Amino acid sequence: MAKRIDISGLSAYYGNHKAIDDISMTVEPRSVTAFIGPSGCGKSTFLRTLNRMHEVTPGGRVEGKVLLDDENLYAKDVDPVAVRRTVGMVFQRPNPFPTMSIFDNVAAGLRLNGSYKKNKLAEVVEKSLRGANLWNEVKDRLNKPGSGLSGGQQQRLCIARAIAVEPQVLLMDEPCSALDPISTLAIEDLIGELKERFTIVIVTHNMQQAARVSDRTAFFNLAAIGQPGKLIEIDDTERIFSNPSVQATEDYISGRFG
Ligand SMILES: Nc1ncnc2c1ncn2[C@@H]1O[C@H](COP(=O)(O)OP(=O)(O)OP(=O)(O)O)[C@@H](O)[C@H]1O
Ligand SMILES: [Mg+2]
Repeated sequence: MAKRIDISGLSAYYGNHKAIDDISMTVEPRSVTAFIGPSGCGKSTFLRTLNRMHEVTPGGRVEGKVLLDDENLYAKDVDPVAVRRTVGMVFQRPNPFPTMSIFDNVAAGLRLNGSYKKNKLAEVVEKSLRGANLWNEVKDRLNKPGSGLSGGQQQRLCIARAIAVEPQVLLMDEPCSALDPISTLAIEDLIGELKERFTIVIVTHNMQQAARVSDRTAFFNLAAIGQPGKLIEIDDTERIFSNPSVQATEDYISGRFG
């Protein structure tokens, strides 16, 4: 289920502005890879190229290849909508559908995918909410609106919604930045559990979080303002935080810039 991501020669543009330049890396299945680097270096842009969401932005354009196992997501005959089902995304601000119940928030993607028998749907919703460590907190109010939950609960609801459709990859863009420390730890624990089943990429500005949750860490940087972001290095997280190969990585993680 979880797939390897092989990225080669990937650049992304907003109109004439090149936001990221010539990125190549491999993301191993059943692992967590953290993207770190200063604001504006293209982490979110790069993440969005991995499920073909970048091209939805006006002027958004991508060069290069993204292979999911052996399939190039940018091949001509590939349907971007199908890609976004296979490669799920969780955003910085929890974004449950505000008028929908907790149940319907999780069921939304499943219903789009086709018809489920009523009890099968309930089964998958429960399994997804359990998977997101939210079931016990919401099982008695599944018909209440998702927007009535706390921020941390809403983010776990969004994770439940993302995993309900059984993606192969889960992309998370600063999923804890709007959360308190307790909710943050709950999400981090959850990421540790989810990596048994999914390939996970997480963008974070929190170095402790990268060190806690990820197996591999990729450091991105730009040479100067206005220049495109580049991948500086990717390595085992332990090594990035103890003995990185590049001085700029060391400067960044020790808080000397960014
Ligand atoms: N919708 C957009 N239109 C035009 N340029 C954009 C757009 N979104 C981002 N950019 C530009 O692309 C570059 C990379 O932005 P991106 O949001 O990917 O950086 P980031 O590393 O995620 O930053 P942060 O850490 O602040 O979230 C920046 O120069 C940014 O101004
Ligand atoms: Mg960003």
